[in-house]
Amino acid sequence: MKIIITKNYRELSKKAAEIVIKELQKRPKMVICFATGSTPLGLYRNLIEAVGEGKISFRDVISFNLDEYYPIKKNSKQSYYYFMFHNFFNKIDIKKQNINFLNGETKNPEKECKRYQKKLKKYKIDLQILGIGVNCHIGFNEPGSSKDSGTRLVKLEECTRKENSRFFKTKKDVPKMALTMGIKDILSAGKILLLASGKKKAKALKKMVEEPPNKDCPASFLKLHKNVIVIADKEAACLLKKQKFYAKRKL
Ligand code: PGA
Repeated sequence: MKIIITKNYRELSKKAAEIVIKELQKRPKMVICFATGSTPLGLYRNLIEAVGEGKISFRDVISFNLDEYYPIKKNSKQSYYYFMFHNFFNKIDIKKQNINFLNGETKNPEKECKRYQKKLKKYKIDLQILGIGVNCHIGFNEPGSSKDSGTRLVKLEECTRKENSRFFKTKKDVPKMALTMGIKDILSAGKILLLASGKKKAKALKKMVEEPPNKDCPASFLKLHKNVIVIADKEAACLLKKQKFYAKRKL
């Protein structure tokens, strides 16, 4: 796990974009799995700019997305489907037929998860983009998730619903369930880029970095992967004991 600590969110987003741009320039036919949430928005803005400047193209990229609320209508403003199209996909040159999503409208979540899992097996993910929850979740793999978990329907923790209620009218409106890729799916990616910003992520980041892999902190399972880059801004990294050590070293 390599940890890069940046001055602020702006630098974090720039650094993350540099990494994605470099990978994409090397391999234009990449399979990328995207994350939703406030944290990757700056990265997505930088990538949109890079497409506009002709530095990169998503023409040959196959995309997956980590998770989706359940149940939710695609055209609901709170769906991750809407979020990704509105904030990113509509502004780059990715082909609609190359975009893969878990369908929050399905009547049969089990079948839907099987379908997605099958597709994930067909296209191995080259680059996985992740945020981290205040409870250490990655995707919607809440505490208690096993390292062997696959794509599935999960119950959201109350703290996750509370955290995400900022996107809804009230907390009551936040769905109680979600469809998510599992830890095993995430760990099967060639390279993983995790972004953490702000003081409220400091505890989760500390747990992830300092604890051995364990179910209470699903993000700690990333330690089992050989190619993980964590980019954290100073606020998110403020509880890490050895900031300078982490900033320079490959763990
Ligand atoms: P956030 O969400 O980027 O909106 O903080 C991160 C997450 O829950 O994975």
